[in-house]
Amino acid sequence: MQIDADRLMHRLHQLGDSARNPEGVLSRLALSDEDKVGRELIVGWMEEADLTVSIDAIGNIFGTWGDGIAVQPLMIGSHIDSVVNAGIYDGCYGVLSGLAVIEALQEQGVEPAIPIVVAAFTNEEGNRYAPDMMGSLVHAGGLDLEQALNTKGVDGSILGEELQRIGFAGPMPVGTIKPRAYLELHIEQGPVLEVEGTSIGAVEDLQGISWQEITIKGVANHAGTTPTRLRHDAGLAAARINTFLRDQLASMSATTVATVGSIEYRPNVINVIPSQVILTVDLRDPDDARLKSAEAQFEEFVEELALQEAVTISIRRLARFEPVQFDSELVDAIEQAAEKRQLSCRRMTSGAGHDAQMMARICPAAMIFVPSKDGISHNPGEHTDVQSLLQGSTVLLDIARKLVAGRLLYR
Ligand code: GLV
Ligand code: MN
Ligand code: MN
Repeated sequence: MQIDADRLMHRLHQLGDSARNPEGVLSRLALSDEDKVGRELIVGWMEEADLTVSIDAIGNIFGTWGDGIAVQPLMIGSHIDSVVNAGIYDGCYGVLSGLAVIEALQEQGVEPAIPIVVAAFTNEEGNRYAPDMMGSLVHAGGLDLEQALNTKGVDGSILGEELQRIGFAGPMPVGTIKPRAYLELHIEQGPVLEVEGTSIGAVEDLQGISWQEITIKGVANHAGTTPTRLRHDAGLAAARINTFLRDQLASMSATTVATVGSIEYRPNVINVIPSQVILTVDLRDPDDARLKSAEAQFEEFVEELALQEAVTISIRRLARFEPVQFDSELVDAIEQAAEKRQLSCRRMTSGAGHDAQMMARICPAAMIFVPSKDGISHNPGEHTDVQSLLQGSTVLLDIARKLVAGRLLYR
């Protein structure tokens, strides 16, 4: 039994190309026009495969083979929204592989003992609306639907209004489908598998993620006439935050990583001391105690910095997710499936956030990784070769087949 590689690759490229601007840049921000086009492609492919398509109130798309509501199904999912200037694989590979797995089973005439649902969750990336992994978080009951719908985007839009506008505010109540197990296949987005020459990652845990937005208020003043000691320079304070994160937090720990990924200066001109800076801080660590300690050190530093630079600094929490342990039985099943296909496999931690971490709150969950060329992701250079993609989808197929045959049944 095998995955139709040509169809999988054709869809991956078609989905990727559907979100490119005239310059060829791919951005499929959550609930944008590009997201609408991508969602319509996914729904169309689900219908071609005779799946029952249901859309819930947060816009999550579910394609079910069999009666997925009456019987707890196996769910295979990921997301199709992207970061700004993205590659074609992040998320889309997982959703399209779920579909490819069902099609492979259908083509072999398999009669599944339990239904399979392919899920494409809303707003995994969190670039436009925080927090990230929002659709799966709402599905798992970790965020109130109304609160999610009222989220204001970085562009001032309201999530619920955008969901209505693109026609994906669905009638199904959130959390309706309660899977017995959840699997997510994804590119690694890091260098480990490629550097080691390993084909498959059996992901056993996922690190904690802390997102904060920092607003620094200083005083705009003349760049030539204001002596250094009299400045209230929001820009300088922002620079010190960035170097503190690297020099004091990330450099002092083998596992903590810290990123200032977004920064906005006001008034942002050459001869005016910045009056305001808004920046984001992404802090991660697989150990929650270390992540908490990094957050506490950061807060202490910010208080001290405000005094030293005579600025005011406020912190708004955008997201905070604890590290997650995946289901050991499923992780074992991934290792065994890889071994049966004679594919090298290693257990690993996910550095990236994924919908699986939210689904792990409500059912046994695990992830399969395949190598990323040069460890690059969230970048148009993101690449995984066809052979590796196919190996990942095949491992997913083998586990799904076992699950739907009732040989690895939860509950
Ligand atoms: C999701 O892609 C994340 O890890 O930020
Ligand atoms: Mn992803
Ligand atoms: Mn991503």
